[in-house]
Amino acid sequence: MINDLWYKNAVFYCLSVETYMDANGDGIGDFAGLMRRLDYLHGLGVTAVWLMPFQTSPWRDSGYDIADYYNVDSRFGTLGDFVEFTHAAKQRGIRVIIDLVVNHTSDEHPWFKEARADPSSRYRDWYIWSKKKPPNAQSGMVFPGVQKSTWTYDSVARQYYFHRFYDFQPDLNTSNPHVHAEILKIMGFWIQQGVSGFRMDAVPFVISTKGAKARKPAEQYDMLRSMREFLQWRQGDSIILAEANVLPETDMEYFGADGDRMQMMFNFQVNQHLFYALAASDWRPLAKALKATKPRPATAQWGLFLRNHDELDLGRLSPEHRKIVFDAFGPDPEMQLYQRGIRRRLAPMLEGDRRRIELAYSLMFTLPGTPVIRYGDEIGMGDDLSLRERTCARTPMQWSDEPRGGFTKSDKPVLPVITGGPFGYEHVNAAKQRRDANSMLNWTERIVRMRKEVPEIGWGDFEILQTRDTRVFAMRYDWRNNSVLFVHNLDSRPREIYLDPGIPGDAGQLLVNLLSDDHSRADENGKHRLLIEAYGYRWYRVGGLDYLLRRSDVESGVSR
Ligand code: GLC
Ligand code: CA
Repeated sequence: MINDLWYKNAVFYCLSVETYMDANGDGIGDFAGLMRRLDYLHGLGVTAVWLMPFQTSPWRDSGYDIADYYNVDSRFGTLGDFVEFTHAAKQRGIRVIIDLVVNHTSDEHPWFKEARADPSSRYRDWYIWSKKKPPNAQSGMVFPGVQKSTWTYDSVARQYYFHRFYDFQPDLNTSNPHVHAEILKIMGFWIQQGVSGFRMDAVPFVISTKGAKARKPAEQYDMLRSMREFLQWRQGDSIILAEANVLPETDMEYFGADGDRMQMMFNFQVNQHLFYALAASDWRPLAKALKATKPRPATAQWGLFLRNHDELDLGRLSPEHRKIVFDAFGPDPEMQLYQRGIRRRLAPMLEGDRRRIELAYSLMFTLPGTPVIRYGDEIGMGDDLSLRERTCARTPMQWSDEPRGGFTKSDKPVLPVITGGPFGYEHVNAAKQRRDANSMLNWTERIVRMRKEVPEIGWGDFEILQTRDTRVFAMRYDWRNNSVLFVHNLDSRPREIYLDPGIPGDAGQLLVNLLSDDHSRADENGKHRLLIEAYGYRWYRVGGLDYLLRRSDVESGVSR
């Protein structure tokens, strides 16, 4: 299949137009505002931006309830503004990925309105109906505690309709070939407006069999292949990044044994175990998750993240491990959500401790995959727990110490800007951090820059090294006759380890530190004695800085 593997060594940045920057002063972010911040993003060094939904929507689930797939919500601008934006991003070498939300529509979508009003409408069968309330209506809710059921009675249709998510998000009957054809049309449309692909929302539900009779929903994986094919026939370098929080044994169903389905998936397995590693200062379960998610086609890539716009879902951890993470990072009930997760942003979870935030990011940037940064995390933004559900971590970007953090001139921002306290815009903002050489923002910029210079992570094979210390995690990547090695101390105390880089020959004698002057030479036994400060991390090149001279298209296996 035709392809361009740009995503194998990219840096993604996820943002919502609504809360990034308001240019016309109505309190709501817009494409004109986002355009003005493209140079900021370019300076940060990210190579792809993932935009959360911006299509026409009643906005009852931050746009994940779409009422017109072929338009920009007028609050954010016009289609013309959107194309100006994709053009300007392209000029700066930044690709644009957008959310593809096709598991369901808004209940205000004309398709649903017509479907419920007229049993003979061609749209009737675009949704999932049942005359009687199915016996399993009280199960399978995605938002337990908030969402009461998955089937709701519609008094106009006089039938129940199925909704995996909120009741205002009726599920599309994705098995209907007309719906499938429409989904392809939507993808084709946005490709034509200049995007490089999609973050596909809720993929396991999109491809699932649905309906009152689907007692045991089954995934129809072949749908993924046909979407991928369509996309690549239209534009060879476009990708789908799947949101699929699934068990490792089904990963290959999503990637496709021949790499013929999704190019990328978010690694939820690693995400949850990474937080466990940080909470318990123990890397062993993380190593297990890395090994379990290791098998994938050469062209496929993991998307790695710390926090996203949803809650930190801990549902895949064992009850004991989950409790440890809750106790460490979200002990109060108001910090928790849907009986499975934590709704806070990263910096407050880590008590604003720079050492721990850097450690978390350094891990994210060096684990196998492509890093995805959440807007605001590059300056260590906080959350507002007075806002309901997941909204608490979606407040406006804090640009400066001007009123409303420089997000808007309006005194009625679409969501409150975090004000006062340690995370208020007065202290935490991009302008201030630009001036401070040691700020989080400048740290992030440097780490992004370095990550791009270490393609071994995106392309190479990894091996987890034995440190004989459950608190110090070490791994090595090999690619094109070069090796890099990363060490992370998860402990709140300094640790000393003896490390064998596991490289034959002389190269392993020298570890060159990429981030400071603290290099390491092996002792007479070929081992490195490394003293790592509390929450410290090291990025090493094995053998020296002549790696670019040694890099070769041909794997020789000797001269590392
Ligand atoms: C995904 C999104 C989430 C949204 C849901 C329904 O899980 O990440 O934000 O609420 O789908 O579309
Ligand atoms: Ca605006």
